[in-house]
Amino acid sequence: MTDWLYALIPHFKALHIGTLAIWCGGLFALPLVLARHEAAVGQQDYARIRRASHYGYTLIVTPAAVIAIASGTVLIFLREVFVLWMFAKLVAVSALVLFHAWVGHVIVKVAETEGTHIPPEPVWPLVVLVTPVVVILFLVLGKPDLGGIPIPDWLTEPQDRQFLFDVPR
Ligand code: HEM
Repeated sequence: MTDWLYALIPHFKALHIGTLAIWCGGLFALPLVLARHEAAVGQQDYARIRRASHYGYTLIVTPAAVIAIASGTVLIFLREVFVLWMFAKLVAVSALVLFHAWVGHVIVKVAETEGTHIPPEPVWPLVVLVTPVVVILFLVLGKPDLGGIPIPDWLTEPQDRQFLFDVPR
């Protein structure tokens, strides 16, 4: 790898860690904010809390998620980490992405039903969220050798199959 590419690694890592801290922090904060979306808090406070969750999600947490994932993807190639723990990490990251989508769904529901939708209590969502975050941190910081896990041959060997359609030679 050329020197200048090598020199980029710490910058991408700093960007990755900075944005994923915002992303994960936001995923922990939003269910707590959503739990305060109850009509009983009064019209003015309700509008303020709704603005906070809406703009927090669209202007801060979602862009941070996109940058964290993009910088992480660049790091895969810069660091050449084509190893099992990395793929296991990506599976856990997909759980975070699902959680992110669920939070967006609740925000839309709250907005579209004008105070009649009751957001879920935050405890269970936060317990669910902590699991992939801990697994990801364990994998990326411990970099365990997962070679002992049996992988089916069809996932590790070329299958020499044809596409269902003709491709140019
Ligand atoms: C699609 C999403 C992601 C991709 C593609 C990705 C990829 C990567 C890569 C390739 C590295 C460099 C590993 C190394 O230098 O050995 C890294 C570092 C790191 N990632 Fe991610 N990551 C993603 C999401 C996350 C998330 C969601 C978290 C935390 C919850 C996270 C936590 C970290 C940490 C703490 C490091 C620094 C590890 C170290 O330098 O030893 N990543 N990531």
